[in-house]
Amino acid sequence: MVSFKYFSTALLATSALALPHGHTHAHAHKRTGTSKRGAAYNDASLVQSLSSGGLISWAYDWNMYTMGTLPSEVEFVPMLWGTKMFTGWFAAIQTLLGSGSNYILGFNEPDMSSQAAMSSSDAANYYRQYISPFSGQAKLVSPAVTNGVGSDVGLDWMRNFLNSCTDCGVTALAVHWYGDSADDFKNFVTQATELAAEYNLAETWVTEFALNSDLAGQGGTQASSDFLNDVLPWLDAQTGVSRYAYFMCGDGYLLSGSEPSLSGKAYIS
Ligand code: BGC
Repeated sequence: MVSFKYFSTALLATSALALPHGHTHAHAHKRTGTSKRGAAYNDASLVQSLSSGGLISWAYDWNMYTMGTLPSEVEFVPMLWGTKMFTGWFAAIQTLLGSGSNYILGFNEPDMSSQAAMSSSDAANYYRQYISPFSGQAKLVSPAVTNGVGSDVGLDWMRNFLNSCTDCGVTALAVHWYGDSADDFKNFVTQATELAAEYNLAETWVTEFALNSDLAGQGGTQASSDFLNDVLPWLDAQTGVSRYAYFMCGDGYLLSGSEPSLSGKAYIS
């Protein structure tokens, strides 16, 4: 995604490393709900604004630290964003796995130069080194690719990765989608679940998705509310889709200030 987002996590990651106690709130994030719906956040204190209705079962912040306290019924899912998080990863993940996280998310948009930026073969090697060792303790989600189309981009990148990482213990596929229509979204997610099925992966996670028109941070529009009312029941009915997170739990997106925006209300009802 757009570069300002990259910089905001770079800052978070830096402060997490500077504060060794940053992970101490990781306890007690046990999964209790069965909802597929998640909160993608940067500010943990805002997650409550979406989760109070009981429909948010999990959350992630593109990071290996919660960076604050999440509501107790929300499962924190750590992500190994990319090479910038290799330092500190093993210690952080051991702590989380001992305290209720059941999944690990792989690299963020390795098929984009402004994000994790990895070839599928480098990603397979890093995955084997940093994530596969936890396959007995957690379910392992693949890197999350964009819906870009082309050689070694999007689902093509993913296929190459899965072909190189047959021994990696991956159990779920992750994808992102940004686009303009519900039909296009459903087509893309269907392609992703078909690819997952081909590789015997029972789960597909859509860890970022949004209408392009909703990305300017203008408060969650009527268009995105209509979009969510269309695609959420569809996602919930797809047996191959186990979790998803609309972009994102923050002001100007699913929230307006700290209250649900128009799209936020659609997301939690
Ligand atoms: C970036 C993350 C960032 C998030 C929200 C993602 O695209 O990779 O670093 O935290 O957007 O801003």
